[in-house]
Amino acid sequence: MTQTPYFNGHNFSGLSLEMMGCFKNNGVLVLENFFAPTMADALMARMDKLVSNISLDEHKTVFSTLNRKQEQEDYFLSSGRDIRFFFEDDAFDENGNLNQPINQSLNKAGHAMHDKDDLFSQFSRHENIKKLANDLGINNPILLQSMYIFKPPRIGGEVICHQDSTYLWSEPQSCLGLWFALEDATIENGCLWGIKGNYENQMPRKRLKRKTDNPNTTELIELDPTPFKEDEKIALPVNKGSLIIFSGLFPHLSGPNLSERSRHAYTLHLIDGACHYPKNNWLRPNANDPFRGF
Ligand code: FE2
Repeated sequence: MTQTPYFNGHNFSGLSLEMMGCFKNNGVLVLENFFAPTMADALMARMDKLVSNISLDEHKTVFSTLNRKQEQEDYFLSSGRDIRFFFEDDAFDENGNLNQPINQSLNKAGHAMHDKDDLFSQFSRHENIKKLANDLGINNPILLQSMYIFKPPRIGGEVICHQDSTYLWSEPQSCLGLWFALEDATIENGCLWGIKGNYENQMPRKRLKRKTDNPNTTELIELDPTPFKEDEKIALPVNKGSLIIFSGLFPHLSGPNLSERSRHAYTLHLIDGACHYPKNNWLRPNANDPFRGF
């Protein structure tokens, strides 16, 4: 069994048998030097431009400290086929003004950069990504969602241990997470951590779904109360240009960013188009805007 999930992804031409074995046994695989640092710079510059167009007034309403829960849920549920911005907790003061500059107040953008922005689409649809999805058994990969994680210095919050399949459900489970480091991710600035294991044919502990009686609201259903073995978690620090590939069943988390440096990352999630995608998932396609493949 491969103990370290780190491999050199430079000049990638498909996953080796060793890489595939590592993914199977650990649920995670790190490909260092998978993409050029200049590409990371280009993606960050594009996001900067998108951020410069944000209408702050709209967000003040949604994210104000008045904590309008339903407004926030509506904003989240309608973000699936759009590029929306989500702020860190406490980004706004009691008067609705930002406590720090906007580029240091954002938690994430989501959830369709891969379809709504040409540069993110081009990056997300690179043939190497299709190749590795195929190598991991996804014959008809669908690009389901993307997120841009800002994790700003000092206020970037922690993300508790979870499985992405909880939010990106298919039957059978097929979610594959791709985590692209746009900047160096270290223990200090809140890199990814995870619990290695063979997660084939397992079920997520929880599922987020729309409520049957009120589909504009979601509920988190517990399917298995067994806690994650968080004492076995390992840190996954990576350099800019690395790709972390993980199963939708791989339990992972990240710490707060207590450093003076940001930790930008871009994530993309694929599912297998051959699997059933339930209508009560939070993330829905639109009739005129379906999920697409490569
Ligand atoms: Fe996650």
